[in-house]
Amino acid sequence: MKALTYHGSKDVRVETMPDPTILAGDDVLLRVTATAICGSDLHLYHGKIPETKHGDIFGHEFMGIVEEAGPDVTNVRVGDRVVIPFVIACGKCFFCENDLFAACETTNPDQGASLRKRAKMTPPAALFGYSHLYGGVPGGQAEFVRVPKANVGPFKVPGSLADERVLFLSDILPTGYQAVLNAKIGRGSSVAIFGAGPVGLMAAACARMLGAERIFMVDSEPYRLDFAVTAFDVIPVDFGHVDPSEFILEQTAGRGVDASIDAVGFEAKGSTTETVLSTLKLETSSGEVVRQCISATRRGGVVSIPGVYAGFIHAFLIGDAFDKGLTLAMGQTHVQKFLPELLEFIEEGKLQPDIIISHRMKLADAARGYEIFDKKEEDCRKVVLTP
Ligand SMILES: NC(=O)c1ccc[n+]([C@@H]2O[C@H](COP(=O)([O-])OP(=O)(O)OC[C@H]3O[C@@H](n4cnc5c(N)ncnc54)[C@H](O)[C@@H]3O)[C@@H](O)[C@H]2O)c1
Ligand SMILES: [Zn+2]
Ligand SMILES: [Zn+2]
Repeated sequence: MKALTYHGSKDVRVETMPDPTILAGDDVLLRVTATAICGSDLHLYHGKIPETKHGDIFGHEFMGIVEEAGPDVTNVRVGDRVVIPFVIACGKCFFCENDLFAACETTNPDQGASLRKRAKMTPPAALFGYSHLYGGVPGGQAEFVRVPKANVGPFKVPGSLADERVLFLSDILPTGYQAVLNAKIGRGSSVAIFGAGPVGLMAAACARMLGAERIFMVDSEPYRLDFAVTAFDVIPVDFGHVDPSEFILEQTAGRGVDASIDAVGFEAKGSTTETVLSTLKLETSSGEVVRQCISATRRGGVVSIPGVYAGFIHAFLIGDAFDKGLTLAMGQTHVQKFLPELLEFIEEGKLQPDIIISHRMKLADAARGYEIFDKKEEDCRKVVLTP
């Protein structure tokens, strides 16, 4: 089969790989019909996620048709059309039983144990196509993929909805939704969303749906901000021109917004010191957006962080966060938990996640897709690939 594989920083290639096979009784083999490139894939693409090996197959946003099912699979059948959550969860452990699927303690064999020094505990759930730190499971930017734990993950979708309409249930839609729920957004809320990439846009869509009144959206890419203004009626804030938290404080009577959402993560631009420190490997993440979120949020508010962080940042303003009595919420998305309600919202027309798609390409051209998305060429917002 053809699959997108890693060969070092900014070197990904579509090449012929062995067809996957069923390895456990509750595996299915999926024929992929659509897959997308995520901002999380860019961290891998930049060579920033440890334990990513040459030849690893990327891709954690995908859907398709069940081609073959192991003998213990009861939830889906051959021929079913399903979306696959990027989180692989067993459905039976302590965390799964508490709907904390991304914390599943049984699916990740933990080849990166030494990197989680301070957390002497089981690693979080395995993820598709996301390094050996997250289980070393081959991903779905491929013609076929083995899907483990098929009684817990694969989510059947009605034939009336096109692939593009439901594909983002695999990751960015539940991620935006969890970020907004964590931020306690409701009717009349004000929120600042940092990052107008796919995750920030999904958060904006969900915040609108839940009745947020004012949505500030921060980025430095005018084309992304322009789209967010048109699609979700946000107040654009270009951090290339203004200090975002200062601007947001001015606009909110000096108090700040009810909640801020960091949809950027550890590769945030804006702090020269941190860019240098992380290049020298003295620091692993840029704390620029976390600091902005802490400044922009009112006392008693929430900072919600779907953006990915790794390791440590030095300049974390815990004093400010304490002083303001903030709540911090973060982590990978517990995808499985949100799918039934999100599908309903899509069916009712309350959410139309596919409007953010800017590029439709063949899987064979995936390397170019990574380049366009990474360099933000051709006004790229989201790339969908079809095998
Ligand atoms: N928690 C989860 O389960 C989960 C799931 C999916 C993605 N993510 C993470 O969410 C983040 C965003 O993903 P995406 O697909 O939208 O990525 P993306 O790279 O397309 O978008 C990030 C955006 O942030 C902007 N940006 C950079 N520095 C900024 C700053 N200082 N202030 C404001 N904006 C800034 C960039 O211009 C870009 O538009 C990534 O870190 C990704 O790994 C997390
Ligand atoms: Zn993703
Ligand atoms: Zn589990």
